[in-house]
Amino acid sequence: MNRPASARLLGTGMYVPERVMTNEDFTRIVDTNDEWIVQRTGMKERHLAEHDQATSDLAIAASRAALADAGVTPDQVDLVICATITADNTLPSTACWIQDRLGCKRAGAFDLTAACSGHIYALAQARAAILSGQARTVLVTSAEILSSITDYTDRSTCVLFGDGAGAAVVQASDQPHTGLLYTTVYADGSGGALMLLPAGGSRRPPSHETVDQRLHYMQIRGREVFRFAVEKMEELIDECLKVCGLTPADVRLVIPHQVNKRIIDAATGRMGFPPEKVFVNIHKYGNTGGASVAIAHDEARRQGLLGPGDVAVLIAFGGGLTWAGAVIRH
Ligand code: ACO
Repeated sequence: MNRPASARLLGTGMYVPERVMTNEDFTRIVDTNDEWIVQRTGMKERHLAEHDQATSDLAIAASRAALADAGVTPDQVDLVICATITADNTLPSTACWIQDRLGCKRAGAFDLTAACSGHIYALAQARAAILSGQARTVLVTSAEILSSITDYTDRSTCVLFGDGAGAAVVQASDQPHTGLLYTTVYADGSGGALMLLPAGGSRRPPSHETVDQRLHYMQIRGREVFRFAVEKMEELIDECLKVCGLTPADVRLVIPHQVNKRIIDAATGRMGFPPEKVFVNIHKYGNTGGASVAIAHDEARRQGLLGPGDVAVLIAFGGGLTWAGAVIRH
């Protein structure tokens, strides 16, 4: 079997629900204000799913856009990976719903849980499957309805999150030194409690009591996450540059997880990247979890910021704790 020379990025897509929730809207449900949210996070609005939308609905819309961009038909896809922490159901996987409704008849399908690092973790799996010869064409689709696990009575978390989906099509190529040049993934489960959904799983199955105690919503220790995030983002950028033999001047764009503008500015600034080389869309979408880097990557491409040969460094961190990086030559 001939192994391919690279895993090429063929196309990307995104979808966000139509409904918009502004900072002003939050002032009507919790004790907050626009100034606090903008200064502390950089967020202005976020898109929220309708009650009849599930994560797969968002993922399918983003996937259709990515397949069209790539010029790939669903029957050419060998593997569907869905990165999400807000699956439609625990059983079956969201990826299987997507595989069926898109008509990826030949494809295997599985979900991947790495919270906000999910899209880059999934790209790493896509690259590994392609370079090992297990798959030729992989659809990575990263989608979240974080509003379904957000406590809208908790002002310290509810303003942070939005819903959305992004997707990427990756394919085997005989051309070396292109596409996914490098991927790296990490975890430290000792920090699992920093971002936690306490009930609903086998540790604490759903009951009237868990619902009464609001244990089906995310609990986040934001201040501790903040420090961890800045440190890991810097380490990831440093590793990606060193391993690929790049300097900041060789990189057209850093595409970070859209978690907090202050975290992004601190990490990329210290690594020597000027603001025009850092893609930020947090003001429009908030933190969309695993979908965040996927949406940002698609927007950057559609804005013409990544032409042929341009290098992008994708970095993310999230619950788990997890963190991950990818270097892509377009
Ligand atoms: N509006 C007004 N005041 C608020 C709000 C709000 N929405 N939320 C908190 N405050 C208050 C707090 O009560 C606190 O008041 P106090 O000083 O009287 O106690 C004050 O603002 C400061 O609170 P901090 O938590 O110290 O604020 P900080 O500057 O750390 O910002 C934030 C909080 C935005 C959450 C920040 O820590 C952060 O971005 N952390 C990392 C992000 C994160 O964890 N994201 C979730 C990742 S999980 C995932 O992505 C799925």
